[in-house]
Amino acid sequence: MRAHGMVGSSFSVGVALGIGVLVAAGATRSVRAQQVAPARDVTFTKDVAPIIQRSCEGCHRADGVAPMSLSTYEDARPWARAIKQRTGIGPKAGVMPPWYVEKNIGIQQFHNDPSLSDAEIAMLAKWADTGAARGNPSDMPPPKVYADHQSWAIGTPDLIIKMKDVVVKSTAPDWWGEVPSVPTGLTEDRYVAALEIKEVNDVDSHAGSNRATVGGRYVFHHMIWRTQVLDAAKSSDQADPLSFILDEETVNWPVHEVGRNADFFDPKSARLLKAGSSIVTDSVHLHSNGRDTKSHLEIGFKLLPKDYKPTYKRAVFGLGNGVDIDIRGMEAEQQLNAYTVLQQNTKIISFEPHLHAPGARMCLEAIWGYNIQTLNCVGYDHNWVRGYDYTDDSAPLLPKGTILHITGFMNNSPTNKNVPDPRNWQGSGNRSVANMFIDLGMRVALTDDQFQEEMAKRRDHLHVTKNDNVIGCPLCNVIPAAATKTAGAPQQ
Ligand code: HEC
Repeated sequence: MRAHGMVGSSFSVGVALGIGVLVAAGATRSVRAQQVAPARDVTFTKDVAPIIQRSCEGCHRADGVAPMSLSTYEDARPWARAIKQRTGIGPKAGVMPPWYVEKNIGIQQFHNDPSLSDAEIAMLAKWADTGAARGNPSDMPPPKVYADHQSWAIGTPDLIIKMKDVVVKSTAPDWWGEVPSVPTGLTEDRYVAALEIKEVNDVDSHAGSNRATVGGRYVFHHMIWRTQVLDAAKSSDQADPLSFILDEETVNWPVHEVGRNADFFDPKSARLLKAGSSIVTDSVHLHSNGRDTKSHLEIGFKLLPKDYKPTYKRAVFGLGNGVDIDIRGMEAEQQLNAYTVLQQNTKIISFEPHLHAPGARMCLEAIWGYNIQTLNCVGYDHNWVRGYDYTDDSAPLLPKGTILHITGFMNNSPTNKNVPDPRNWQGSGNRSVANMFIDLGMRVALTDDQFQEEMAKRRDHLHVTKNDNVIGCPLCNVIPAAATKTAGAPQQ
């Protein structure tokens, strides 16, 4: 994998800066895990329960989305070997928790990162290998309290909008189209800090599934949606179908997908929820899960304070290839490439690979002059679509003129369980049997002054000197001689 070698020189610098880049490129996960296994006995109450509470229990508890609870010793004990196996897979399809950032390259600070450290993975493996002991009951951390089975990753939302119920029959064909819009009920303009969408349905998550994936628990495979102040005088068929592109009161939101996590917006560029707006969608994809299912989506918003005003504009550009994807049958290692040149200084808020069934991995690279950095490589599992939100001090700060490059790694072979028949060639398209290759991440555009301010803040927080190379910020080590200096040509 060529991307690994390219930024070799950045590893040690990342460590020196304390920005958390591991140096273990090339070492396999299990070798590293053995090296950090603790010498003493490992027990459930002392060692395993805290890891489960932090990284698993959000899903693996009574009433959680996962097939079994891991909360208590009695719950978790029968799964000891499976826990060792599923946590030790590395950043690719099948790993638990479902989070696929490769830890040996690129940026490592994300909001809500549930992933396990090598030491924790080694701890769970040792627990399974040494008889999965309970340990001293007094070591057990107090149980975490969940409001109800619908607790939200964004915290209790300020506004929850329930979409209308749909019924998907066990034998229903694949369907996509429009569903009725639903008013937000908001009476004042408010900016949004975070967003989360849940599917609420009558599938018993503990009854077992004939589709043994997270997809088997849900019927909403995607919803592309916007909020829009609808013209009450016109029915939706009379309204200009393209009006939402031109109309300033319309805001597009991240696509909901099965297994997708919550979104945290950069407050400086928060999106607006208008008074009197409605949730509008003309692209809902419903897919039977093999049993009759009644279901609806709930959209939870965390709002910013009333007097809040954003300072940054969203950067709107595409990065991907939606037209001429060409994936051969029965081949595991195939690559797609797409590029864009940034027309404005850009802060990248999140990385969100969007692939379909053959997707196995995506890398994001920034090329500025001779400075080539792999920002991140992440695994991909089409059952678990994840977006990765950078923290404020890790979000890439890229000068205009930077080339962004994504590489998609496609596995269209029998080793990819998501592909129904890998003998088939696959091309582009919306359907799950066709392909997309896009980075749906969020970005904001910065003026030259804003760009300099962001870099000054980063230098200050990370104590950057001119000898440091900050991943994701190729100009951070160019300390301006005067405050007026702006981004210029690559430094020679
Ligand atoms: C975001 C929700 C979520 C989180 C967090 C999560 N899991 Fe899971 N887990 C699931 C779902 C859903 C399944 C079943 C579908 C699948 O395998 O993808 C599953 C499957 C599993 C399985 C396989 C069960 C079987 O039938 O063989 C194991 C073992 C497991 N998880 C362990 C863990 C552990 C350990 C953690 C924390 C370190 C964890 N999971 C975190 C949702 C989650």
